[in-house]
Amino acid sequence: MRILGIETSCDETAAAVIEGNPQNKTTSLLSNTVSSSLTLHAKTGGIIPEVAARQQIKYILPVIQKALADSNSTQANIDALAVTIGPGLIGSLLVGVETAKTLAYAWNKPIIPVNHLIAHLYANFIELDSRRYSLNANREFPALGLIVSGGHTDLILMKKHGSIMWLGGTRDDAAGEALDKIGRLIGLPYPAGPIIEKLAKDGNSKKFLFPRPMIDSGDYDFSFSGLKTAVLREVKTMKQLNNETTADISFGVQQAIVDVLVTKTLKAARQFKVKSILLGGGVAANQTLRTDLELNARRSKLDAEIFFPEKWLCTDNAAVIATTALFNYKPVPWQKITADPELYFD
Ligand code: KG4
Ligand code: ZN
Repeated sequence: MRILGIETSCDETAAAVIEGNPQNKTTSLLSNTVSSSLTLHAKTGGIIPEVAARQQIKYILPVIQKALADSNSTQANIDALAVTIGPGLIGSLLVGVETAKTLAYAWNKPIIPVNHLIAHLYANFIELDSRRYSLNANREFPALGLIVSGGHTDLILMKKHGSIMWLGGTRDDAAGEALDKIGRLIGLPYPAGPIIEKLAKDGNSKKFLFPRPMIDSGDYDFSFSGLKTAVLREVKTMKQLNNETTADISFGVQQAIVDVLVTKTLKAARQFKVKSILLGGGVAANQTLRTDLELNARRSKLDAEIFFPEKWLCTDNAAVIATTALFNYKPVPWQKITADPELYFD
């Protein structure tokens, strides 16, 4: 089975082709094309939805064409389409959804709607081997998913493919959003997450001890907007921000966010006795998060395997959309597929 995946929920325009069946570990990712309008947004300090959607209209067909060409695919050997239907920006989602529906209708192929958040976790089912990317069905359930991106921070329990239980999420800013907003406060360009990670390496760990919001709240919810206020308070007391202070703040903020994410993830892993922990979303690319999660899991003798996607699979792409559809193959008539910016978990 060959699936063409399409993703346009935020500022990326992406298409990918995978081939395989979930029981067969030789299934593979044949092509993966991502076109980002990130440089346009860096100029404005954040995403302007209409600018993103206009770029996506321009790139969607060339991106699909390239994904097909790179995988030596044509209409004839594509068996199904998969598309992100939400959550995301409405203008952006519409570009991918309507294009995918048009292809499904014109080519007479099945189409599978995909939840972007769940798809982030399926990055863990794509493995790099020496020759090619293969899909790996051997992640043991129950699994705990931590989705940490610019728009979301969610903990979910995956009992098996297609069986999802939401445990908690952020009540205000997402982890990546907090990093981006704090970055703006201290003069960093968008997206600030990866820059904060780099600057934190030279930061003094003793300089700023920022709050760890809701770390002992007893539930699986998060709140990161107070962290931004704490940083603002510090910045206001300073005459000027220099490189040293920016690095120290970066360290303090990154560590505060990582501590909360690690504590709550490990607590949920123990409560639900999961066999695997799957990370996904842009913030999952953060090395401190990866290292601290593994260290603390080992220290507390947690009996679960931790999976991190390849870093290029943490951010938005269509490989994870096609992969989610392969493991959850439920085609829907194209007439019934609509973009849903508020889509959450069932
Ligand atoms: O998943 P993603 O590409 O887009 C959304 O669906 O939101 O995530 C983007 C977010 C941004 O907030 C960015 O600052 C953050 O992920 N990010 C990082 C890192 N790389 C990206 N945050 C911390 N460390 C990183 N290395
Ligand atoms: Zn995303």
